[in-house]
Amino acid sequence: MKRLFFSLIAMLGVLALSAQNEFNNEVMQTIMARRSVRKYLDKPVEHSKLEAIAKAGINAPSARNWQYWAVRIIEDQKLINDVSEVYKQANPEAVSREPGFKNMFRGAPNLICVCAPKDGDFDLDAGLMGENMMLAAQSLGLGTCIQTGPVRWLLTNEKAKFFLERLDIPEGYKLLYVIAVGYPDEKPDAKPRDASKVKFIGGEISEEASDDDGLFIDYFENAQFPGGDEACMKWLQEHIKYPEGYTSNQPQGRVVVSFFVEKDGTIDSVKVFRSPDPLLSEEAIRVVKQMPKWKPAHQYFPPPRQGSEAVRARYFLPIIFRQH
Ligand SMILES: Cc1cc2nc3c(=O)[nH]c(=O)nc-3n(C[C@H](O)[C@H](O)[C@H](O)COP(=O)(O)O)c2cc1C
Repeated sequence: MKRLFFSLIAMLGVLALSAQNEFNNEVMQTIMARRSVRKYLDKPVEHSKLEAIAKAGINAPSARNWQYWAVRIIEDQKLINDVSEVYKQANPEAVSREPGFKNMFRGAPNLICVCAPKDGDFDLDAGLMGENMMLAAQSLGLGTCIQTGPVRWLLTNEKAKFFLERLDIPEGYKLLYVIAVGYPDEKPDAKPRDASKVKFIGGEISEEASDDDGLFIDYFENAQFPGGDEACMKWLQEHIKYPEGYTSNQPQGRVVVSFFVEKDGTIDSVKVFRSPDPLLSEEAIRVVKQMPKWKPAHQYFPPPRQGSEAVRARYFLPIIFRQH
């Protein structure tokens, strides 16, 4: 039997409480897993990924499909570094408050600059495309941070003019915001969300009931393999055995296993969510069922209700089977 190797892609940060089937799809999981990332690896994003992100952006809705926006994606790290050097000299104090300062855009290797017309009411359209791009980036394993702080500085600093000139912004447009994008070097916790901002008008479920049944998650920390993602990868590498006689002519690729992590950390209801081959599915299920107890997911409550409790949560674990 030819030897098969496998690799694991970063585990999806996945949210789903037992009763919340509405969260049981990849779009919802991508939305819930997105966080503003402010620490990045020194690894530029592949051009193909940036292209895909841009495509997601321009597929956002716009008033009458006018598409009054302009997007500039910076792959020139020197440009980012040069303008950051100017920023650094002008703002030594701000820079000193940022340990390990890499650049003025939260240290990201790439930057998406979104422009909108100076006149008219098109900032909303430009905002919608931004969220599309951030979610697309999230789905590709990237981190993002939308920022207007640096834009305010760029627009008012003479010495930073060269940066704006390089963007080739269309006549009558302004730089509205930037999105830092790159491979994350941190995993920020979710920030609390205020469920009271939402009210249902009419319908069968009262406000109180909808809050109580956990529809709004204030602050959620996903279940974790003991020791974290890397430990999980290592454990899988040690325990996965490849199906007898499986050859390179048979399907390869990603098996996504879904399971619940109970409040006590035990794994339950292991199922294959997506798979290129039943034999790979079988192996993925076998090995996940043997896993040690996980650290359960936690739901945190911001003030006035404080503290946290372990909750049953669904987890999606992608395992890539690839023959070398
Ligand atoms: C219009 C806008 C401007 C923002 N500007 C900045 C910024 O200049 N710097 C920054 O680090 N984050 C910025 N953020 C990110 C917010 O701080 C962040 O979205 C918020 O704290 C919620 O955290 P989350 O994105 O992790 O859910 C901005 C967000 C928005 C929507």
